[in-house]
Amino acid sequence: MDYHSRARELHRLLTEYQRAYYIDGRPLVSDLEYDRLFDELSRIEAEHPETRTPDSPTQRVGSDLSSDFPEVEHTIPVLSLDKAYSDTEILSWISKTTKNTGENLSFVLEEKLDGFSIVLYYEKGLLARAVTRGNGFIGNDVTANVKTIYSVPLRLNEDIDIAVRGEVFLRKAEFERINATLSEPYANPRNLAAGTIRRNKSSETAQVPLSIYVYEGFWADGGENTDHIQILSRLRSLGLPVDPHLSYFCKTKEEARQRLEKASLEGRPGSFDDIPQAIVDYTSARRDLPYEIDGLVVKVNELSTREELGYTEHHPRWAIAYKFEAPQAQTQVLDIDVQVGRTGRITPMARIRETLLSGSTIRNITLHNQDYVDELELAVGDTVAISKRGDVIPAVENVIEKNEVGNTTWQMPKTCPVCGSQIIKRGAHHFCPNYDCAAQAKGRLAFFCAKGQMDMEGLGPRTIEILYDNGFVKSIGDLYRFDFNLMKGLKGFGGTEGKTIENIKTSILQSRKTPFRNVLVSLGIPEFGKKAVDLVCDAGFDSMSKLLEIADNKDEQCLSTIKGIGPITANLIIDGLNSPTTRKLIDELREAGLRMEDEKKDNSNLEQIFQGQSWCVTGTFENFNPRSKAMEEIKKRGGTEVSGVSRKTSCLLAGSGAGSKLDKAREFGVRIVTEQEFLKMIGTAEEPEEPKKEEEQLSLF
Ligand code: IVH
Repeated sequence: MDYHSRARELHRLLTEYQRAYYIDGRPLVSDLEYDRLFDELSRIEAEHPETRTPDSPTQRVGSDLSSDFPEVEHTIPVLSLDKAYSDTEILSWISKTTKNTGENLSFVLEEKLDGFSIVLYYEKGLLARAVTRGNGFIGNDVTANVKTIYSVPLRLNEDIDIAVRGEVFLRKAEFERINATLSEPYANPRNLAAGTIRRNKSSETAQVPLSIYVYEGFWADGGENTDHIQILSRLRSLGLPVDPHLSYFCKTKEEARQRLEKASLEGRPGSFDDIPQAIVDYTSARRDLPYEIDGLVVKVNELSTREELGYTEHHPRWAIAYKFEAPQAQTQVLDIDVQVGRTGRITPMARIRETLLSGSTIRNITLHNQDYVDELELAVGDTVAISKRGDVIPAVENVIEKNEVGNTTWQMPKTCPVCGSQIIKRGAHHFCPNYDCAAQAKGRLAFFCAKGQMDMEGLGPRTIEILYDNGFVKSIGDLYRFDFNLMKGLKGFGGTEGKTIENIKTSILQSRKTPFRNVLVSLGIPEFGKKAVDLVCDAGFDSMSKLLEIADNKDEQCLSTIKGIGPITANLIIDGLNSPTTRKLIDELREAGLRMEDEKKDNSNLEQIFQGQSWCVTGTFENFNPRSKAMEEIKKRGGTEVSGVSRKTSCLLAGSGAGSKLDKAREFGVRIVTEQEFLKMIGTAEEPEEPKKEEEQLSLF
């Protein structure tokens, strides 16, 4: 077969396998076979680039090229939904709607997916653009990132022009897994999904297994659809993933059942009388869903009735969202200004009329970024509903009443309010690009001195501001150089306040003894917070020189094979360590006498037989349950842990049921160690260590 035909054949097969796996949830081939075919297609495409089409299955792995997200106009109206916060409101909306319209009415009840709203534009069946909701008229083109979502078809089953609305989301389990590795964890799966869609490099988006469900379709030629059920059914036949947990209500349950069956849609049929119970059932089933929903959506099914009902300025009158969580208070936005953080990131803050919420007084609420403001269509003077999410962070939920003075949606200033530099946009956020901006410098100093980092008593943000504004301390290095006596003349520090100066002096002196791990965190490298630092140090990369060597060699694998550190984090750590400003800071800290290596734990009684070796553990064991116990034994003897097998892995400890890792080890010629051999190595072959009582208890968790 010539390479053209082979590429076409592989394209077809891999597309089919991807769809079976990610949309239908039933794999057709083994991972190994899939990888083999994938590699073959990648090779042909690399050698003959003309065979690479935009819908090739290889195009999902993303690229390292940085992309910004150009603004594009929506060709469909991207409206939001009116909201209700109780089932009685929903039921009265349904009966009002029924009264106001003709006889033949039915309703669809869908899950309100708690994710990130997206519009997919297909042209002649090919995914042409994926655009964020933006302000409803103009959104950002995030196509390269959306292509990495396996359940988004790159080509539909028909060559049609269609716009599709859907929600990108992250399953709870994936969120837990990924979030646990981040130094600055996200508050919820929605935020992580939204952050991922806005990564500048699509290769980074590809590392997060996002999902999508679509819920509205707009055919360019009208599509001759008569109702929503039919639209959902057609979207599914086109190859798009539709949430199967829908309910459909007609006059009688039997009629609903028949219509669902005709549309070949899964879902629960019911009569109008069944609606209240359905709402109760969805609400209680919510906890057990593998993804998060923040409410339900009730939609009129018949398109002719939808037209009859029409639209308000912002919402269709034919649908309503039932939100599970009601906002708790109402207040007014007095002003919106911005804060410049240590990384230069500019965060809009709403200054609100003081409000009591769950026992605390709220005056300021973060608005995160411009997109967040655009989604809310928020302007100064608007009356808003606010609530506390997860009981900690207060958030603006929605605008209740627009201001009467004609203020339009708030816009980010063009220049940094602190240093006047032109603001730039990266992903969803705006940044002040000036490293020497006073706000950034103070932010870096405050972060360095704060608890969790160098923990310097007496050096809070206020003191730092004074030291900075007086020109004594402009950078972290200055902390270790400046003359404390200069402070004596300062208001609040001299005279009887001499004690404060002494405290500061002691804090700075003592920081030389602060553990190395804190020093690493205090560098402020993105994603290299306490958790990641612990993982990296525990894996044996426990000194500045070892880390800088990895950074010099850009040895991503070294870090990404550590359990809990993915390739995204690995690359960010390496980039961070390689940045000239971090290097300068490290030099200064070294010169100041700070710790540059981890303090050794006492495993001196054990022979370090695995020193310098990287071990992967897979399968189940008789003597090590959970299997992390085997890893503990390896680490105690100087070995390091890796989560996957690569050519560089020293050994694979394989228990029973070992799967693909065993295959990989064979392929790469990595030494495979059985449980019996391992017991011999660690010298407990005859009498394997009895688990202690406490350990038994621990393993229960
Ligand atoms: S329908 C014109 N259906 O909720 C109607 N929206 O303000 C368009 N959402 O921006 C929305 N699940 O991001 C619809 N099953 C669902 C949904 C859903 C989640 C989101 C969507 C929209 C917001 C409502």
